[in-house]
Amino acid sequence: MRSITKDLPYLGFGLGLRTDHYQDIIEQQPAIDWFEIITENYLVPGGKPLYYLDKIREHYPIVMHGVSMSLGSTDSLDLDYLAQVKALADRINAKWLSDHLCWTGVHQKNMHDLLPLPYTEEALKHVVSKIKQAQDFLGRQMLIENVSSYLTYSSSAMTEWDFLREVAEQADCLILLDINNIYVSSFNHGFDPKDYLAGIPAHRVQQFHLAGHTNNGDHIIDTHDHPVIDPVWHLYAEALNRFGKVSTMIERDDHIPALSVLLEELEQAKHIARDVYSLEGEKA
Ligand SMILES: [Fe+2]
Repeated sequence: MRSITKDLPYLGFGLGLRTDHYQDIIEQQPAIDWFEIITENYLVPGGKPLYYLDKIREHYPIVMHGVSMSLGSTDSLDLDYLAQVKALADRINAKWLSDHLCWTGVHQKNMHDLLPLPYTEEALKHVVSKIKQAQDFLGRQMLIENVSSYLTYSSSAMTEWDFLREVAEQADCLILLDINNIYVSSFNHGFDPKDYLAGIPAHRVQQFHLAGHTNNGDHIIDTHDHPVIDPVWHLYAEALNRFGKVSTMIERDDHIPALSVLLEELEQAKHIARDVYSLEGEKA
């Protein structure tokens, strides 16, 4: 039986580990609390990525973020993949591991896209069962992340936040809440992002993602190639108010700037969090 929620540590403020920064991290040992790796980049035994990861993890806690578990797919779970994920998590002493509330393909074809699910009872039952299977196989609670989306299904019978809440409660998993994804989807689908936050149970939220995106006027694409925008910082402050101290990291996957630039952006997150926490202190 898995232990109940919120027994994972609070890690503070982290960054996504990217190859461009390996050398600087090793040489400068910057003041970053933790790193998140993209799981799939480190599943090959040996080689450069693992060499650098081993050096970096001597000084920093590591969490794993996967993109291909395809928990929403009607395909059964790929047990070879899960075995590799488990072996890596054990090997690097990962603090936790996450994947997405999505499907990435069917009939063993990976479309390399994080596709949304219809928010129906049938899909809920299906994804809950897959997450439970994955957690049982991995021997640990997972974090499940909300994806950004560009379409909705006419068959959906509940909101995304109601669906995510039910997934977390029924599968007994934790939530990686991507604040930028909430903003992107709220823009694309016309809902109030504050309603989303209000619908998520605080005791399930273990991590936040922050990122930038590309606004094309009538829709937003979740490109992770720009700095975090002000409305997303404001939503982050709202989220901190609602969920309390939650480990936070910034994702940048394209147009990756110097490490110092991302460190400055992370300072902004810390600054906002300090403001919220000190206000909380005044209230207490
Ligand atoms: Fe994310």
